[in-house]
Amino acid sequence: MTAVADIVRAAHRERPQALAARDALGGPLVLRAVVLGASDVSRVSDLHERVCAAASPDTVRHDPPEFFIRVASGEGALLGFEGAEDGRLAAYGVVTFPGPDTDHCGRLIGLADGPLVAQFNGVAVDPSLRGNGLQRHLGRWRMATAARLGRRHVVSTASPRNVPSWVNLLSLGLVIRGLHVTYGALRYVFHTDLEADMPRGDARPVGLDDLAGQRKLLAAGWGGVGWTGGRRPEALLFADLTGRR
Ligand SMILES: CC(C)(COP(=O)(O)OP(=O)(O)OC[C@H]1O[C@@H](n2cnc3c(N)ncnc32)[C@H](O)[C@@H]1OP(=O)(O)O)[C@@H](O)C(=O)NCCC(=O)NCCS
Repeated sequence: MTAVADIVRAAHRERPQALAARDALGGPLVLRAVVLGASDVSRVSDLHERVCAAASPDTVRHDPPEFFIRVASGEGALLGFEGAEDGRLAAYGVVTFPGPDTDHCGRLIGLADGPLVAQFNGVAVDPSLRGNGLQRHLGRWRMATAARLGRRHVVSTASPRNVPSWVNLLSLGLVIRGLHVTYGALRYVFHTDLEADMPRGDARPVGLDDLAGQRKLLAAGWGGVGWTGGRRPEALLFADLTGRR
């Protein structure tokens, strides 16, 4: 296990600047990035419970407070944004750092090497502050923290039905490499190698609902690398990644 102090130091080093954001009514506010600790778990859990109450369990995994305590106690990092004026938690993102024997979602796509892996393990944005790109900001911060700790592979999952989440993961450069039932529901398994180039080449559109077609391409070594339709996704783009991780 990586020492808590090393994780906190790495997260602080990579901490982004404060952000200018908009609330649900369009009012301006400033959000500052915060490394959250065990004493912040009740704030994180409160936001998580509110988000879970409004979401289907197929799209958002429910985690008890003990999960967040374990993360803050050495399994990973709890990163967040809070209001600069009122200190209210606007968003959190979890990244965990598996050990040699720790289970992680990369195993579903044949990635065995736990000590080189970082897993995005949950993210939520307060409903009144969505649309400010906070998942992407937290994703970049989690990736930079992982890289600083020598973690080369970043893995994550998202439900095909959770469009804002998979759009953001693709925007961060993660690639869909599998489609599996995990955490109790069907989810894409994402991966990126922080030390390798982004995949290039021709990409083929596949319908968002054509999960059989997507599965066939994934089994043939293709990966989901993008989408068409901009802010209202219409199709996923798959590219031939045969021979690449
Ligand atoms: C997924 C999530 C973190 C993204 O939040 P975010 O970073 O604020 O999203 P973005 O800033 O990228 O918003 C992009 C667009 O999607 C919209 N959007 C974001 N989340 C949305 C949601 N749950 N439902 C509908 N639209 C949503 C935004 O309003 C914005 O629309 P616009 O482009 O027309 O302005 C947020 O929706 C959330 O907390 N969902 C519940 C928890 C969850 O699903 N976590 C991931 C799985 S563990």
